Amino acid sequence: MDTNSLLQTALKARKNAYTPYSRFPVGAAILTRGGKVFAGANVDNASFPEAACAEANAIGAMVTAGERAVDAVLVVGGPDDAPGLCTPCGGCRQRLAEFSGPQTIVLLADAHGVRETLPLFDLLPKAFGPKSLEARADV
Ligand code: THU
Repeated sequence: MDTNSLLQTALKARKNAYTPYSRFPVGAAILTRGGKVFAGANVDNASFPEAACAEANAIGAMVTAGERAVDAVLVVGGPDDAPGLCTPCGGCRQRLAEFSGPQTIVLLADAHGVRETLPLFDLLPKAFGPKSLEARADV
């Protein structure tokens, strides 16, 4: 996996983030099972809770292109000099889980490189997912 090219894609997306209220630009780059890459940036809103996360927008771009399988997602968040790494929010962990397998990895980066790599399901143990719905009664 070319993590540097994923980082460059996410950084380019982060530049376009619309963050007048949060002042916390985030870029995400999804690598699909087939090797395609999709970017997303966060989009704030004057109605604050309506902000859309970078990861959610990258998933939207991926699904719109007909892709369904996430192998990896790289997230770079906050201004360049922000302390700490941006981990996907709870809602985005769930959104990513929808399109992920047990091997899917999350790469946490700053502007200079990937700083942490971990399996998505370490961030969302005992996830509710499509399989959970198989318990439904046939009615
Ligand atoms: N944000 C993301 O884009 N991804 C995350 O995983 C965490 C939060 C955005 C939403 C909002 O635009 C800003 O960061 C502050 O919460």
